[in-house]
Formats: sequence, C-alpha cells, structure tokens
Amino acid sequence: MQNQLVLHHPIFNYISKASEELGLESYVVGGYVRDLIMQRPFKKDIDFVCVGSGISLAEKTASLIDPNIQVHIFKNYGTAMFHAFDTDIEFVGARRESYQRDSRNPIVEDGTLEDDQNRRDFTINALAISVNKNNFGELLDPFNGIDDIEKGIIRTPLDANITFSDDPLRMMRAIRFASVLQFSIEHSTFEAIKNNKERIKIISQERITEELNKIILSKNPSIGFGLLFDSGLLEIIFPEMYALHGVDTIRNLSHKDNFYHTLKVLDNVCEMSDSLWLRWSAILHDIAKPPTKKFDENHGWTFHGHEFLGSKWVPNIFKRMKLPLDAPMRYVQKLVLLHLRPISLTKENITDAAIRRLLFEAGDDIDDLMMLCRADITSKNKLKVKRYLDNFDIVEKKIIEIEEKDHIRNFQPPISGELIMETFGIQPCKEIGIIKNQIKDAILDGDIRNDYDEAYQMMLQKGQSLGLIVKKNG
Ligand code: CTP
Repeated sequence: MQNQLVLHHPIFNYISKASEELGLESYVVGGYVRDLIMQRPFKKDIDFVCVGSGISLAEKTASLIDPNIQVHIFKNYGTAMFHAFDTDIEFVGARRESYQRDSRNPIVEDGTLEDDQNRRDFTINALAISVNKNNFGELLDPFNGIDDIEKGIIRTPLDANITFSDDPLRMMRAIRFASVLQFSIEHSTFEAIKNNKERIKIISQERITEELNKIILSKNPSIGFGLLFDSGLLEIIFPEMYALHGVDTIRNLSHKDNFYHTLKVLDNVCEMSDSLWLRWSAILHDIAKPPTKKFDENHGWTFHGHEFLGSKWVPNIFKRMKLPLDAPMRYVQKLVLLHLRPISLTKENITDAAIRRLLFEAGDDIDDLMMLCRADITSKNKLKVKRYLDNFDIVEKKIIEIEEKDHIRNFQPPISGELIMETFGIQPCKEIGIIKNQIKDAILDGDIRNDYDEAYQMMLQKGQSLGLIVKKNG
C-alpha cells in the first residue's frame, strides 16, 4: 500500500491554503479515507480534523471558496460544517476525550492528531491523510488500519472495552461495518461487545435504528443479524426477533429454527430488491411464530394465525423502533398479513376469484408480495422447492391474465357512494356501505364484470332488496 494518496476533490486545496494562512495542521479523516482506500463510492461527506480550532478552519475555508457560504457552527461540540461542491464538509479540532460511565457526553480537551486518532472507533476509521503543504497526501496510519482493511478486520484502536463503554453506539457500528464491508470483528473487540451490550440502553432508539437500517440495507444482512444475535445485542434491541431462535422437538418431529429461516428469507429478498421496506417485511413475516406455535398430534408443529398476529404487532414494533408510521408501516403490515396467501393458492385449484381477491388486497404491492413469497421458500428439499416455484409461476401468469381482463390491482369502485345516495334519494347511512361491498364482492367473485353498467344494475337490485326506492334512474 502506498502512503501517498491522490486527493481529487476540489476542497482539499482550499483547506490546504486556509490551514497555511491560519498556521495550523489539517487532515482528512474517517469514512472518506476508508472508502478512498477501499475504492468504495464517495458518499459526499468529508471530515477534517485540525490541530487547533475546527470552527476557525471552517470559516477561513468557506471564505476562500465563496464568502456567501453559510457555515453552521456547533460551539458546544467545537465543530462546524458547510456545504460546497455538492459535499458536506465537516470540521473538528483535534481532541482528547474522556467519558463518565453514565453519560454519552465526554469531557473534551484540545489534543494532538494522535489523541484524535486514539478516540476514534475503529482502526479502519482512524486513518488520516495530510492536506498540509509540506506533506500533502501523506497517509498517517498509527494503528495499522491499512492492514486491517486488507485483512477485512474491524478492530478498535485502543482497549475495546473502553471504546465501547465510552460510546456504546460503536457496538452497533462495528456490526454494521462488518455487515456492509463483509469484514469480521476481531476476537477481543467482539468479546468487548458482549461485555458491554447492556450499555446500548443509553443510546437513543433513533441512532440504534439508523445503524440497524444500514445493516438491513447491506448485501447480506444475515451477517449483521448473526453478529447481533451472537453478541447478545439482538435480545436487547429486538426481543421479538431474538425469540424466533431455537428448535423444539416432540416425537422426533422438529420445526425449523425460525431465526435462521428469517435470515435466509431476508438474504433472499436482498438478491431481488434494494427496498428497505420489503427487507423489513422479510424480517417480520414470521415474527409471531413463537406465540402461535403448537404441537398437533396429527399435523406436527403448527403456527396457525401467525400472519394475523404478526401484522398486528407491526405498529408497535415500528413505534418502538421509531420507524415511519405512515405508508411504509402499512406496506409492511400488508405483506406480513398476506405472505401465506400465494402459497395457499398453489395448494388448491387456483380459481380466478381467489386471484382477484389477492390482487384486490395486495394492490400495487402484489409484485413485492410475490418476491417475499419466493424468498420464503428455504426448504433443502430441491423437489419441493421446484414444485413451489413452478406453482408460483402459474399464480403469476394468472395474476397477469386476470389483471389485464379485470383491472383489480388499483380497484376503484365502479359505483360511488354519492351515486347511490342520489339514485335512492338517501343521506349517508349503512346501506350505502352494504351495497358497495356487495358490488365489490360480486366483481371479485366474478358474478359481474368490473364495469359501470353491470355494477349499476346490481346497485338497483341490491338497493331495492334493502327496501330503498329509486328516485332517479340514470
Ligand atoms: N466516529 C467515531 N465514533 C462514532 C461515530 C464516528 O469514532 N460513534 C468517527 C470515526 O472515525 C468515523 C468518523 O467519526 O469514521 C466519521 O463518522 P461518520 O460520518 O458517522 O461515519 P463514517 O465512518 O464516515 O461512515 P459512514 O458515513 O458510512 O457512516
């Protein structure tokens, strides 16, 4: 590995000039350096550390680029940032930190570059590159971070127990980096996560969830979840998911371990989609299996109703995890609720009515639901897998055929409530809902087509049978 790096971004020359004018040393640190060395995509944020005032360096640099740039100053933290060249540029003065046991707020003192590298989370994040005129581009790697990058290892620069106890979010970050970069966590670093797991409780849920979502968005989130499980963190931050683990056996009959099954399903959907919410649906699809588990003398292990209970749990889990409670939550609830429907369709003779009902309930999320269902097939029995997948092909073909014919996916009732009120000269009342439902059911069952005229005739007939009198005939 060379220890002279080529820095392309236009900000570096400005920082170099500003540092010279202020007479201080500056370095680029953290994720930018790590990603540059690993040739990973640039994430449009760069962190600088200087031996002196980070705020002064930010102000000086901004004034050299464009005096109108707004510099955001966080006096309490001694940090500053501004946006330029489509990049967030962040500044901090080199510091030495010491922490109290019951607080995340460190006591901060000015320090050297080395002090600053010492206080960082991992060796791969503690690399610095000089932007000073005399040694511009020189790499400073006191903890062999380059070596760890090459070997694929997450390790703390100092005693891991201190690093994690100081800032317990770093336990989540360690696992996130392991999952995203497909690195392994060095033994004593991982042991320290186990020792300090309880300290995760002082971290805000928002920050925990941010890391969790980054794990979920990695290529193989099973790596991250496996580490969360093995470290003991999962039991604390996500007890419902932890409870999926384990296998019971009665009369030689065992069910599968639902934790590892869920991880397989999650990795499977990741091969098909980058959607965070589809991935969350995979995580939660079997979440209510533990409380619905029963041993039935005739059928072995059953989990009846786990899809209903699971979808009922989604709002509480989302609320606790501080995940969005609007469209994403409704989407995940829907997919958890419906995840067994396509497979049950393949067991019976697939009727058009059953497909129409599924299309009606899944709406535009039908394709995602089918992805989840395909991902859910984790059997080791190749014949069984082939049979299920072939059946899904049939279901999908039928879905396309029926959607072309009946347009159920974005079902809009052909007869509105207003028209029912006008026709029978009535005010809002429960009969309107009854008629609308009967028309919808008739369309889904295939008794009438999804068509205004047929639905209108049905409305007249159903209204009259409810004792309503036609006031206006359209
Ligand atoms: N850092 C740390 N402890 C934390 C958070 C950050 O030591 N809890 C340090 C690390 O040196 C990190 C740098 O601050 O590299 C910048 O942090 P951040 O921007 O949050 O993360 P990156 O490492 O840049 O990575 P990413 O952008 O992928 O989150």
